[in-house]
Amino acid sequence: MRIVYVNGEYLPENEAKISIFDRGFLMADGVYEVTSVLDGKLIDFAGHATRLERSLGELEMANPVSQDELLTIHRELVERNGIDQGMIYLQITRGAPADRDFAFPDPDETPSSIVLFTQNKPNLADNPVAKKGIKVISIDDLRWGRRDIKTVQLLYPSMGKMMAKKAGVDDAWLVEDGFVTEGTSNNAYIVKDGKIITRERSHDILHGITRAAVLRFAAEAQMQVEERNFTVVEAQAADEAFITSASTFVMPVIEIDGAELGDGTPGPVAVRLREIYLEESRKAAV
Ligand code: PDD
Repeated sequence: MRIVYVNGEYLPENEAKISIFDRGFLMADGVYEVTSVLDGKLIDFAGHATRLERSLGELEMANPVSQDELLTIHRELVERNGIDQGMIYLQITRGAPADRDFAFPDPDETPSSIVLFTQNKPNLADNPVAKKGIKVISIDDLRWGRRDIKTVQLLYPSMGKMMAKKAGVDDAWLVEDGFVTEGTSNNAYIVKDGKIITRERSHDILHGITRAAVLRFAAEAQMQVEERNFTVVEAQAADEAFITSASTFVMPVIEIDGAELGDGTPGPVAVRLREIYLEESRKAAV
């Protein structure tokens, strides 16, 4: 039985309650973050906390906690649930007004709701999937136009994941106007002639915290990085590909729409970046 955090209280998961009028439930009017835990410590916490502030600001939503309080809550949950490796899910919504209404409620009358819970993943770092790599299909990107805000509107990404499952693969890459935006819940990269290529930041993709760290480590390791759009055809002709996210770190991609990349095994750049990311982010964990 997990101990979770809801609006100021630590409770057993089956006692934690949110109102049926909560705008997260009725309107997907909420934002979230997923922070990974390795060796009982938080990975890239400052990045996630900063992006949370930005998501809230873009939606004019009040933040019910300070960064310090947020860190304390994260640490308390890791401690109370004995998490060595796993994730912490955090969600803040525009709260529960007295009735359903499209207009935002007055934040002085309706405080934001905040929920956090842990997910125990003992093999997060030593994930056997990373040794094999994953297969992806491409699908149309039918999400809204502000994907840089980390909202809980995850219906289309969930549908994309199901399309991938039905196609017998692991995930889907989303394509808009002929170019890959990102994965259902991760940023997408290809590697050609040693150069790492990934879409530049804009409203079209989530500005991944893992992406920022990986690009920094790649530059420090004298790897070449090019931030630009790429097509599925270019990706299929690449030497290798990979994705990044807080829950997968750096995960090699070995097949796109049925076309095998290289020899169909994880490429050296992805493997090296995964090693560097795990090593460096563990050192900087809090
Ligand atoms: N997803 N793009 C999308 C659409 C995402 O949902 C995510 C993260 C990322 C990677 O961001 P980061 O490196 O900050 O985790 C990119 C999380 C892990 C999730 O929804 O579970």
